[in-house]
Amino acid sequence: MKKINNFIEVIKKRRSVRKFEKGKTISIESLKRIVDCGRWAPSGANTQCFDFVVINEKNMINKTTKVFLNQAQRLVDFAKGFPAVSKNYLANTVAIIIVIGDPRWKVCFPHASTKMFEKEYNDNNEAIFLCSLGAAIQNIQLGVTAEGLTSAWLSGSGEEKTNSDLSKLLGYPNWMKAYGTIPIGYPAKTQNKRYRRPLEQCLHWNKYEPKQYRTHSQVDFYESALRPFAMYRDEEQIENWPDFKEKLGIWANAFSSQICNKNEKLERKQNFSKPRTEGRSTRRRKLQ
Ligand SMILES: Cc1cc2nc3c(=O)[nH]c(=O)nc-3n(C[C@H](O)[C@H](O)[C@H](O)COP(=O)(O)O)c2cc1C
Repeated sequence: MKKINNFIEVIKKRRSVRKFEKGKTISIESLKRIVDCGRWAPSGANTQCFDFVVINEKNMINKTTKVFLNQAQRLVDFAKGFPAVSKNYLANTVAIIIVIGDPRWKVCFPHASTKMFEKEYNDNNEAIFLCSLGAAIQNIQLGVTAEGLTSAWLSGSGEEKTNSDLSKLLGYPNWMKAYGTIPIGYPAKTQNKRYRRPLEQCLHWNKYEPKQYRTHSQVDFYESALRPFAMYRDEEQIENWPDFKEKLGIWANAFSSQICNKNEKLERKQNFSKPRTEGRSTRRRKLQ
């Protein structure tokens, strides 16, 4: 694979790929350069609250694959409706990088010295911790792309059962958590594009534009009908989908133009802690 040196090109070429060529290898030097990208990520109070386990031995790759096959089966059994993909492809990785978060370092973030603000600061410390891990995971993904390879971003290792399986396999304390798993490989086919909202829809100048506000119904529609296509199709502009009109229906403009909220009214907060509607893509899920 050819290395990529142009920064913007690296950003745009980074793609979640879930099918790799068999029988490939990667050099230790390449893996070290990739992990070094994670090391240089920003972190709250420079705590560097992450560790990186690189799995590059075949038998360890196979054991890790097994953990994720179980994780994927749990999704099928207990999180019905989510568009899960078989994780057999992990067996064809050249390496898997596990990013572990160490929660003790949250003590170094700002803590309330006044009781009534404890929750506020604790909540933000959680955000600082997770964002630091996200920055490290993203840096590693970009490093993989710059090396001319591809990866994905698996979050299932953050589930308690899967984290416990991984901690037993890899030996880290089970009170730490593997927030990110990054399978690395040679893509079995070119996957360069992915749906993105138009720039003018998510870009707000100087203040939040109510006409660019995505309504509650649009979130429900994405979750229940559009999600699997937006996640996996190899196309940036949704209006280029051959079945654009059929898939989008009344939401065609909202998902393909600047304006998703013509009347410019913002809505009151509602509970989005779990799926609220059943649509074409989530029929298998029975809402209870
Ligand atoms: C926090 C986070 C968690 C994710 N978890 C998973 C996952 O568990 N499995 C997976 O296949 N992709 C996962 N993804 C990848 C997203 O599905 C993907 O980034 C998105 O569909 C856009 O595609 P792209 O990465 O090719 O641009 C995750 C991405 C992020 C940022």
